[in-house]
Amino acid sequence: MQATIEKTIDFVKETLAHAEAGHDWFHIERVFKTAQTINQQENGNELVVALAALLHDIADPKFNNGDEELGPHIATSFLKSIAVDEKIIEHVKLIIQHMSFKNSFDGTGFTSKEMQIVQDADRLDAIGAIGIARAFTYGGFKNRVLYDPAILPEEHRSKESYKNTTAPTINHFYEKLLLLKDMMNTEAGKTLAAERHQFMLLYLEHFYKEWEGK
Ligand code: ADP
Ligand code: NI
Repeated sequence: MQATIEKTIDFVKETLAHAEAGHDWFHIERVFKTAQTINQQENGNELVVALAALLHDIADPKFNNGDEELGPHIATSFLKSIAVDEKIIEHVKLIIQHMSFKNSFDGTGFTSKEMQIVQDADRLDAIGAIGIARAFTYGGFKNRVLYDPAILPEEHRSKESYKNTTAPTINHFYEKLLLLKDMMNTEAGKTLAAERHQFMLLYLEHFYKEWEGK
């Protein structure tokens, strides 16, 4: 099992060598570690958790013309090439197919303990100290302002209008980051999310205070 995981790590590192900062190898490594932490409490299949965590962003549809099948396809071909058991491959593929924020509402209903673990780990990387850093990195990349008291998040509830405006990065906290703690699947995920959520609330409190020059 260790050899399979190591080969997969090498493959992912190589494939993501030029990925943007939000989904680079370090994001994968954090999700991989967090998934393992959660799995210590959940006792899912270790190999499935590790492989799905490592391969979950191997080809993000956002950067591949919306192609939802490319990631699962690349993951499957790679795992076949290193002779991973068919059943494990099938499970990892289903996890990758169903893991995104969008797909979690698609109603096709696939779930498994391992999928819940990896999904929690991925969502946890969007909140807390790391989540804050990622949000401002994204905002900077999109040339967004940090905050604008005149552009409140409520005015940008519709996903489409949100995408097309230069909404301040702080709005993203209300649109997504502060909602994630209630979307956790596992008990261990909920515990980690609660701590990270508190930290974001504290961060926002300080942000507004400093904004007012206090
Ligand atoms: P993922 O693929 O991890 O589900 P995304 O690709 O949507 O998430 O986002 C990658 C990172 O960029 C996340 O940390 C997310 O919170 C952040 N991000 C996405 N959209 C925005 C936005 N509009 N403003 C600020 N940060 C964002
Ligand atoms: Ni991810």
